[in-house]
Amino acid sequence: MKPNVKKIPGPKSQKILDKLKKLNLGNSAVYPFVHSDRGQGCYFYDIDNNLFLDFASQIASNPLGYNNQDLKKIIKKYSNIQPIKYAGQDFVVKEHKDLLEELLTITPKTLNSAFLINSGAEAVENSIKICMRKRPKTKFGISFKGSFHGRTLGALSLTNSKPVYNKNYLRIPHKILHFNEGAKEELLKIIKKEDSESIGFLIIEPIQGEGGYNVASKNMLADIRKVTKQYNIPLISDEVQSGMGRTGKWWAIQNFNINPDIISAAKALQVGATIANKSFISEPGAISSTWGGGHILDLALGLETIKIIKRKKLLINIKNTGIYLRKRLNELDVKNQRGIGLMQAFDLENKEIRDNLIIECLKNGLVVLGCGHNGVRLIPPYIISKTEIDQAIDILDSSIKRCSNKLFKHQGMICNYMNCGEILS
Ligand SMILES: Cc1ncc(COP(=O)(O)O)c(C=O)c1O
Repeated sequence: MKPNVKKIPGPKSQKILDKLKKLNLGNSAVYPFVHSDRGQGCYFYDIDNNLFLDFASQIASNPLGYNNQDLKKIIKKYSNIQPIKYAGQDFVVKEHKDLLEELLTITPKTLNSAFLINSGAEAVENSIKICMRKRPKTKFGISFKGSFHGRTLGALSLTNSKPVYNKNYLRIPHKILHFNEGAKEELLKIIKKEDSESIGFLIIEPIQGEGGYNVASKNMLADIRKVTKQYNIPLISDEVQSGMGRTGKWWAIQNFNINPDIISAAKALQVGATIANKSFISEPGAISSTWGGGHILDLALGLETIKIIKRKKLLINIKNTGIYLRKRLNELDVKNQRGIGLMQAFDLENKEIRDNLIIECLKNGLVVLGCGHNGVRLIPPYIISKTEIDQAIDILDSSIKRCSNKLFKHQGMICNYMNCGEILS
Protein backbone atom coordinates (compact mmCIF):
# COMPACT_ATOMS: atom_id res chain seq x y z
CA MET A 1 0.00 0.00 0.00
CA LYS A 2 1.03 3.60 -0.51
CA PRO A 3 -0.39 6.75 1.09
CA ASN A 4 -2.63 8.67 -1.27
CA VAL A 5 -4.24 11.97 -0.36
CA LYS A 6 -6.37 13.93 -2.80
CA LYS A 7 -7.72 16.73 -0.63
CA ILE A 8 -7.88 17.34 3.12
CA PRO A 9 -10.28 17.94 4.51
CA GLY A 10 -12.38 16.20 1.87
CA PRO A 11 -16.01 17.37 1.58
CA LYS A 12 -17.52 14.62 3.75
CA SER A 13 -15.00 15.12 6.52
CA GLN A 14 -15.38 18.88 6.37
CA LYS A 15 -19.11 18.67 7.05
CA ILE A 16 -18.63 16.57 10.16
CA LEU A 17 -15.67 18.57 11.42
CA ASP A 18 -17.51 21.86 11.10
CA LYS A 19 -20.53 20.52 12.96
CA LEU A 20 -18.31 19.02 15.66
CA LYS A 21 -16.48 22.30 16.12
CA LYS A 22 -19.78 23.95 17.02
CA LEU A 23 -20.89 21.21 19.40
CA ASN A 24 -17.70 20.09 21.06
CA LEU A 25 -17.05 21.87 24.36
CA GLY A 26 -13.44 20.72 24.43
CA ASN A 27 -10.60 21.02 22.00
CA SER A 28 -11.51 22.23 18.54
CA ALA A 29 -8.11 21.89 16.85
CA VAL A 30 -8.18 18.51 15.20
CA TYR A 31 -6.53 16.59 12.41
CA PRO A 32 -8.54 17.55 9.33
CA PHE A 33 -10.09 14.25 8.36
CA VAL A 34 -12.69 11.85 9.70
CA HIS A 35 -11.79 8.18 10.06
CA SER A 36 -13.70 5.62 8.01
CA ASP A 37 -14.07 2.01 9.14
CA ARG A 38 -11.52 0.94 6.53
CA GLY A 39 -7.86 0.38 7.13
CA GLN A 40 -5.20 -2.28 6.99
CA GLY A 41 -2.12 -2.68 9.14
CA CYS A 42 -0.44 0.70 9.47
CA TYR A 43 -2.73 2.40 6.92
CA PHE A 44 -6.22 3.82 7.22
CA TYR A 45 -8.75 5.53 4.94
CA ASP A 46 -10.72 8.61 5.87
CA ILE A 47 -14.35 8.93 4.77
CA ASP A 48 -13.23 10.87 1.66
CA ASN A 49 -11.10 7.92 0.53
CA ASN A 50 -7.76 9.48 1.39
CA LEU A 51 -5.25 6.81 2.44
CA PHE A 52 -2.84 7.64 5.27
CA LEU A 53 0.22 5.91 6.73
CA ASP A 54 -0.10 6.16 10.51
CA PHE A 55 2.98 7.13 12.50
CA ALA A 56 0.87 8.40 15.39
CA SER A 57 -1.03 5.21 16.37
CA GLN A 58 -3.92 7.16 17.89
CA ILE A 59 -1.40 8.82 20.20
CA ALA A 60 0.19 5.46 21.09
CA SER A 61 -3.12 3.83 21.89
CA ASN A 62 -3.46 1.68 18.75
CA PRO A 63 -0.39 -0.57 18.92
CA LEU A 64 -1.59 -3.21 16.45
CA GLY A 65 -2.82 -0.99 13.63
CA TYR A 66 -6.06 -1.30 11.68
CA ASN A 67 -8.23 -4.28 10.84
CA ASN A 68 -6.36 -6.72 13.07
CA GLN A 69 -8.07 -10.07 12.53
CA ASP A 70 -7.44 -11.41 16.04
CA LEU A 71 -8.89 -8.31 17.65
CA LYS A 72 -11.85 -8.45 15.26
CA LYS A 73 -12.58 -11.99 16.45
CA ILE A 74 -12.78 -10.66 20.00
CA ILE A 75 -15.14 -7.87 18.96
CA LYS A 76 -17.31 -10.42 17.16
CA LYS A 77 -17.33 -12.70 20.20
CA TYR A 78 -18.85 -9.93 22.30
CA SER A 79 -21.10 -8.43 19.63
CA ASN A 80 -24.28 -9.91 21.12
CA ILE A 81 -23.65 -9.00 24.72
CA GLN A 82 -25.64 -6.27 26.38
CA PRO A 83 -24.66 -4.45 28.50
CA ILE A 84 -21.01 -4.43 27.54
CA LYS A 85 -20.11 -2.13 30.43
CA TYR A 86 -20.53 -3.34 34.01
CA ALA A 87 -19.91 -1.59 37.31
CA GLY A 88 -16.76 -3.65 37.49
CA GLN A 89 -15.33 -2.76 40.89
CA ASP A 90 -18.53 -3.99 42.55
CA PHE A 91 -20.01 -6.48 40.07
CA VAL A 92 -17.49 -8.89 38.67
CA VAL A 93 -17.00 -10.02 35.08
CA LYS A 94 -14.55 -12.82 34.31
CA GLU A 95 -12.62 -10.67 31.85
CA HIS A 96 -11.49 -8.49 34.76
CA LYS A 97 -9.67 -11.42 36.35
CA ASP A 98 -8.37 -12.63 32.96
CA LEU A 99 -6.78 -9.29 32.07
CA LEU A 100 -5.22 -8.89 35.53
CA GLU A 101 -3.75 -12.37 35.31
CA GLU A 102 -2.23 -11.70 31.88
CA LEU A 103 -1.07 -8.17 32.73
CA LEU A 104 0.76 -9.42 35.81
CA THR A 105 2.75 -11.89 33.69
CA ILE A 106 4.51 -8.92 32.08
CA THR A 107 5.10 -6.73 35.14
CA PRO A 108 8.10 -6.86 37.50
CA LYS A 109 7.51 -9.63 40.09
CA THR A 110 7.04 -7.32 43.07
CA LEU A 111 4.24 -5.47 41.26
CA ASN A 112 1.77 -8.28 41.79
CA SER A 113 -1.62 -6.56 41.68
CA ALA A 114 -3.36 -3.90 39.60
CA PHE A 115 -6.36 -1.60 39.75
CA LEU A 116 -8.12 -1.22 36.40
CA ILE A 117 -9.66 2.06 35.45
CA ASN A 118 -10.76 3.99 32.37
CA SER A 119 -7.94 6.31 31.30
CA GLY A 120 -4.28 7.18 31.66
CA ALA A 121 -4.99 10.17 33.88
CA GLU A 122 -7.00 7.95 36.22
CA ALA A 123 -4.17 5.40 36.27
CA VAL A 124 -1.88 8.20 37.46
CA GLU A 125 -4.52 9.61 39.81
CA ASN A 126 -4.86 6.28 41.57
CA SER A 127 -1.11 5.78 41.66
CA ILE A 128 -0.70 8.96 43.67
CA LYS A 129 -3.74 8.19 45.81
CA ILE A 130 -2.41 4.83 46.95
CA CYS A 131 0.84 6.53 47.93
CA MET A 132 -0.97 9.18 49.94
CA ARG A 133 -3.05 6.54 51.73
CA LYS A 134 0.03 4.53 52.58
CA ARG A 135 1.97 7.58 53.74
CA PRO A 136 -0.28 9.53 56.12
CA LYS A 137 2.31 12.26 56.70
CA THR A 138 2.27 13.23 53.00
CA LYS A 139 2.40 16.96 52.39
CA PHE A 140 3.40 17.04 48.72
CA GLY A 141 4.47 14.99 45.71
CA ILE A 142 7.41 15.38 43.35
CA SER A 143 7.39 15.48 39.55
CA PHE A 144 9.68 16.75 36.80
CA LYS A 145 10.01 19.70 34.48
CA GLY A 146 8.48 18.84 31.10
CA SER A 147 6.24 16.11 32.53
CA PHE A 148 2.78 15.20 31.27
CA HIS A 149 0.67 12.98 33.51
CA GLY A 150 -2.91 13.66 32.40
CA ARG A 151 -5.71 16.12 32.91
CA THR A 152 -7.60 15.14 36.05
CA LEU A 153 -6.69 17.61 38.77
CA GLY A 154 -4.30 15.35 40.69
CA ALA A 155 -2.46 14.18 37.58
CA LEU A 156 -2.59 17.68 36.12
CA SER A 157 -1.02 19.11 39.27
CA LEU A 158 2.07 17.07 38.45
CA THR A 159 2.04 18.06 34.77
CA ASN A 160 4.55 20.74 33.84
CA SER A 161 4.94 20.48 30.08
CA LYS A 162 2.91 23.50 28.89
CA PRO A 163 1.25 26.38 30.78
CA VAL A 164 -1.97 26.03 28.78
CA TYR A 165 -2.80 22.77 30.55
CA ASN A 166 -2.71 24.25 34.06
CA LYS A 167 -3.85 27.86 33.71
CA ASN A 168 -6.34 28.72 36.52
CA TYR A 169 -6.62 25.10 37.67
CA LEU A 170 -5.90 24.48 41.35
CA ARG A 171 -3.03 22.09 41.97
CA ILE A 172 -2.21 19.68 44.76
CA PRO A 173 1.05 20.54 46.55
CA HIS A 174 4.09 19.44 44.59
CA LYS A 175 7.72 20.21 43.94
CA ILE A 176 9.45 20.03 40.58
CA LEU A 177 12.89 18.59 39.76
CA HIS A 178 14.89 19.22 36.59
CA PHE A 179 14.83 16.25 34.21
CA ASN A 180 18.61 15.87 34.29
CA GLU A 181 21.45 14.59 36.43
CA GLY A 182 21.06 17.50 38.85
CA ALA A 183 17.77 15.95 40.01
CA LYS A 184 19.43 13.82 42.69
CA GLU A 185 20.93 16.84 44.46
CA GLU A 186 17.63 18.72 44.19
CA LEU A 187 15.83 15.76 45.72
CA LEU A 188 18.36 15.45 48.53
CA LYS A 189 17.99 19.16 49.27
CA ILE A 190 14.22 18.76 49.58
CA ILE A 191 14.69 15.75 51.87
CA LYS A 192 17.13 17.71 54.03
CA LYS A 193 14.72 20.63 54.36
CA GLU A 194 11.53 18.63 54.85
CA ASP A 195 10.88 15.39 56.67
CA SER A 196 11.21 12.66 54.00
CA GLU A 197 7.89 11.25 55.16
CA SER A 198 6.18 14.41 53.96
CA ILE A 199 7.06 13.39 50.41
CA GLY A 200 4.17 11.23 49.24
CA PHE A 201 5.72 9.97 46.01
CA LEU A 202 7.99 10.79 43.12
CA ILE A 203 6.52 10.38 39.65
CA ILE A 204 8.56 10.21 36.46
CA GLU A 205 8.14 9.32 32.79
CA PRO A 206 11.30 7.35 31.88
CA ILE A 207 10.80 8.83 28.42
CA GLN A 208 8.80 12.03 28.61
CA GLY A 209 5.94 11.91 26.12
CA GLU A 210 4.02 15.04 25.31
CA GLY A 211 6.78 17.14 26.88
CA GLY A 212 9.24 16.28 24.12
CA TYR A 213 10.22 12.59 24.01
CA ASN A 214 13.09 13.34 26.36
CA VAL A 215 14.86 10.15 27.37
CA ALA A 216 15.93 10.10 31.03
CA SER A 217 19.65 9.81 31.63
CA LYS A 218 20.64 6.39 33.01
CA ASN A 219 22.58 8.00 35.83
CA MET A 220 19.72 10.24 36.81
CA LEU A 221 17.26 7.36 37.03
CA ALA A 222 19.72 5.19 38.94
CA ASP A 223 20.38 8.03 41.41
CA ILE A 224 16.68 8.78 41.84
CA ARG A 225 15.94 5.11 42.48
CA LYS A 226 18.74 4.92 45.03
CA VAL A 227 17.56 7.96 46.98
CA THR A 228 13.86 7.06 46.85
CA LYS A 229 14.71 3.57 48.12
CA GLN A 230 16.91 4.91 50.88
CA TYR A 231 14.16 7.21 52.14
CA ASN A 232 11.27 4.89 51.36
CA ILE A 233 9.66 7.31 48.90
CA PRO A 234 7.44 5.44 46.41
CA LEU A 235 8.68 5.77 42.82
CA ILE A 236 5.90 5.88 40.22
CA SER A 237 6.85 5.17 36.62
CA ASP A 238 4.27 6.79 34.35
CA GLU A 239 4.23 4.42 31.39
CA VAL A 240 0.90 5.48 29.95
CA GLN A 241 2.62 6.37 26.68
CA SER A 242 5.92 4.52 26.87
CA GLY A 243 4.76 1.21 28.34
CA MET A 244 3.17 -1.95 26.94
CA GLY A 245 6.08 -2.71 24.63
CA ARG A 246 6.50 0.62 22.83
CA THR A 247 10.27 0.72 23.55
CA GLY A 248 10.92 -2.95 22.76
CA LYS A 249 10.61 -3.92 26.42
CA TRP A 250 7.28 -4.26 28.17
CA TRP A 251 8.01 -1.21 30.31
CA ALA A 252 10.23 1.72 29.37
CA ILE A 253 11.88 1.76 32.80
CA GLN A 254 13.22 -1.75 32.14
CA ASN A 255 15.58 -0.15 29.59
CA PHE A 256 17.25 1.42 32.64
CA ASN A 257 17.29 -1.79 34.73
CA ILE A 258 15.17 -0.21 37.40
CA ASN A 259 12.19 -1.53 39.30
CA PRO A 260 9.67 1.13 40.28
CA ASP A 261 7.16 0.78 43.13
CA ILE A 262 4.22 1.58 40.90
CA ILE A 263 3.57 1.59 37.15
CA SER A 264 0.77 3.66 35.62
CA ALA A 265 -0.34 2.18 32.29
CA ALA A 266 -3.12 2.82 29.77
CA LYS A 267 -3.31 3.68 26.05
CA ALA A 268 -2.02 0.48 24.33
CA LEU A 269 -3.55 -1.59 27.14
CA GLN A 270 -7.03 -0.27 26.18
CA VAL A 271 -7.83 0.39 29.84
CA GLY A 272 -6.00 2.32 32.53
CA ALA A 273 -4.06 0.36 35.17
CA THR A 274 -2.37 1.27 38.43
CA ILE A 275 0.08 -1.56 38.98
CA ALA A 276 1.66 -2.03 42.41
CA ASN A 277 2.44 -4.47 45.18
CA LYS A 278 -0.72 -5.80 46.84
CA SER A 279 0.48 -4.45 50.19
CA PHE A 280 0.01 -0.88 48.96
CA ILE A 281 -3.64 -0.73 49.81
CA SER A 282 -5.83 -2.75 52.13
CA GLU A 283 -8.96 -0.76 52.93
CA PRO A 284 -11.93 -1.64 50.72
CA GLY A 285 -13.35 1.47 49.08
CA ALA A 286 -10.14 3.52 49.32
CA ILE A 287 -9.99 3.49 45.52
CA SER A 288 -12.81 2.58 43.17
CA SER A 289 -14.85 3.64 40.16
CA THR A 290 -18.13 2.55 38.57
CA TRP A 291 -16.72 1.32 35.29
CA GLY A 292 -13.18 0.42 36.33
CA GLY A 293 -12.59 -3.22 35.48
CA GLY A 294 -16.06 -3.58 34.00
CA HIS A 295 -15.85 -2.70 30.32
CA ILE A 296 -15.91 -6.24 28.96
CA LEU A 297 -14.84 -5.41 25.43
CA ASP A 298 -11.95 -3.18 26.48
CA LEU A 299 -10.79 -5.78 29.00
CA ALA A 300 -10.92 -8.53 26.37
CA LEU A 301 -9.13 -6.35 23.81
CA GLY A 302 -6.42 -5.45 26.33
CA LEU A 303 -5.96 -9.14 27.13
CA GLU A 304 -5.74 -10.11 23.46
CA THR A 305 -3.35 -7.22 22.76
CA ILE A 306 -0.87 -8.61 25.30
CA LYS A 307 -1.30 -12.11 23.90
CA ILE A 308 -0.76 -10.94 20.31
CA ILE A 309 2.39 -9.01 21.27
CA LYS A 310 3.68 -12.21 22.88
CA ARG A 311 2.49 -14.59 20.14
CA LYS A 312 3.80 -12.53 17.23
CA LYS A 313 7.03 -11.70 19.08
CA LEU A 314 6.38 -8.01 18.45
CA LEU A 315 8.88 -6.82 21.04
CA ILE A 316 11.56 -8.12 18.68
CA ASN A 317 9.99 -6.30 15.72
CA ILE A 318 9.82 -3.10 17.79
CA LYS A 319 13.49 -3.38 18.67
CA ASN A 320 14.61 -4.10 15.09
CA THR A 321 12.39 -1.60 13.31
CA GLY A 322 13.16 0.96 16.02
CA ILE A 323 16.87 0.67 15.23
CA TYR A 324 16.10 0.96 11.51
CA LEU A 325 13.83 3.97 12.02
CA ARG A 326 16.55 5.75 14.02
CA LYS A 327 19.17 4.93 11.36
CA ARG A 328 16.94 6.44 8.67
CA LEU A 329 16.12 9.46 10.87
CA ASN A 330 19.84 10.12 11.25
CA GLU A 331 20.00 10.63 7.47
CA LEU A 332 17.51 13.52 7.61
CA ASP A 333 18.31 17.20 8.00
CA VAL A 334 16.90 17.37 11.54
CA LYS A 335 18.25 17.79 15.07
CA ASN A 336 18.32 15.85 18.33
CA GLN A 337 17.15 12.48 17.07
CA ARG A 338 16.21 10.55 20.19
CA GLY A 339 14.08 7.74 21.58
CA ILE A 340 14.02 4.02 22.23
CA GLY A 341 12.33 1.36 20.10
CA LEU A 342 9.30 2.70 18.24
CA MET A 343 9.17 5.82 20.39
CA GLN A 344 11.33 8.17 18.34
CA ALA A 345 11.48 11.93 17.88
CA PHE A 346 13.51 14.74 16.39
CA ASP A 347 13.55 18.53 16.52
CA LEU A 348 13.26 21.13 13.81
CA GLU A 349 14.73 24.62 13.71
CA ASN A 350 11.71 26.21 15.38
CA LYS A 351 8.05 25.68 16.23
CA GLU A 352 6.76 27.27 13.03
CA ILE A 353 8.71 24.91 10.80
CA ARG A 354 7.63 21.98 13.00
CA ASP A 355 3.98 22.95 12.75
CA ASN A 356 4.26 23.39 8.99
CA LEU A 357 5.95 20.01 8.69
CA ILE A 358 3.15 18.17 10.44
CA ILE A 359 0.65 19.63 7.97
CA GLU A 360 2.89 19.02 4.97
CA CYS A 361 3.37 15.36 5.98
CA LEU A 362 -0.37 15.01 6.33
CA LYS A 363 -0.96 16.45 2.87
CA ASN A 364 1.37 13.73 1.62
CA GLY A 365 -0.36 10.99 3.54
CA LEU A 366 1.82 10.61 6.63
CA VAL A 367 0.33 11.19 10.09
CA VAL A 368 2.80 12.38 12.73
CA LEU A 369 2.45 14.24 16.03
CA GLY A 370 4.24 17.15 17.61
CA CYS A 371 5.85 17.11 21.06
CA GLY A 372 7.71 19.59 23.22
CA HIS A 373 8.40 23.00 21.71
CA ASN A 374 9.64 22.07 18.25
CA GLY A 375 9.72 18.27 18.25
CA VAL A 376 8.05 15.68 16.04
CA ARG A 377 7.26 12.25 17.46
CA LEU A 378 7.12 9.05 15.46
CA ILE A 379 5.14 6.26 17.07
CA PRO A 380 4.00 3.78 14.40
CA PRO A 381 2.13 0.59 15.25
CA TYR A 382 4.27 -2.30 16.53
CA ILE A 383 3.73 -4.18 13.24
CA ILE A 384 5.51 -1.55 11.12
CA SER A 385 7.85 -2.85 8.40
CA LYS A 386 11.08 -1.43 7.03
CA THR A 387 9.35 -0.70 3.70
CA GLU A 388 6.74 1.36 5.51
CA ILE A 389 9.46 3.19 7.42
CA ASP A 390 11.12 3.99 4.08
CA GLN A 391 7.85 5.44 2.81
CA ALA A 392 7.57 7.63 5.91
CA ILE A 393 11.19 8.78 5.64
CA ASP A 394 10.69 9.75 1.98
CA ILE A 395 7.67 11.87 2.91
CA LEU A 396 9.48 13.40 5.88
CA ASP A 397 12.56 14.17 3.80
CA SER A 398 10.74 15.96 0.98
CA SER A 399 8.41 17.74 3.42
CA ILE A 400 11.32 18.96 5.57
CA LYS A 401 13.02 20.36 2.47
CA ARG A 402 9.87 22.25 1.46
CA CYS A 403 9.09 23.56 4.95
CA SER A 404 12.65 24.71 5.59
CA ASN A 405 12.30 27.29 2.82
CA LYS A 406 11.74 30.62 4.59
CA LEU A 407 9.00 31.59 2.13
CA PHE A 408 7.03 28.38 2.73
CA LYS A 409 3.49 28.92 4.00
CA HIS A 410 0.42 26.72 4.09
CA GLN A 411 -2.72 28.10 2.57
CA GLY A 412 -6.33 27.12 2.22
CA MET A 413 -8.91 25.18 4.15
CA ILE A 414 -6.44 23.03 6.12
CA CYS A 415 -5.33 26.12 8.08
CA ASN A 416 -8.83 26.37 9.59
CA TYR A 417 -8.37 23.04 11.35
CA MET A 418 -4.82 22.32 12.32
CA ASN A 419 -3.21 23.44 15.49
CA CYS A 420 -0.36 21.17 14.51
CA GLY A 421 -0.46 18.64 17.30
CA GLU A 422 0.12 21.34 19.89
CA ILE A 423 -2.75 20.38 22.12
CA LEU A 424 -2.68 16.66 21.54
CA SER A 425 -1.22 14.58 24.34
C1 LIG B 1 2.71 9.83 30.13
C2 LIG B 1 1.24 10.09 30.13
N1 LIG B 1 0.56 10.01 31.29
C3 LIG B 1 -0.76 10.20 31.36
C4 LIG B 1 -1.49 10.51 30.23
C5 LIG B 1 -2.97 10.71 30.31
O1 LIG B 1 -3.64 9.69 29.66
P1 LIG B 1 -5.16 9.88 29.19
O2 LIG B 1 -5.16 10.89 28.10
O3 LIG B 1 -5.59 8.50 28.75
O4 LIG B 1 -5.92 10.33 30.39
C6 LIG B 1 -0.83 10.61 29.00
C7 LIG B 1 -1.57 10.95 27.79
O5 LIG B 1 -1.04 11.26 26.77
C8 LIG B 1 0.57 10.39 28.95
O6 LIG B 1 1.24 10.47 27.81
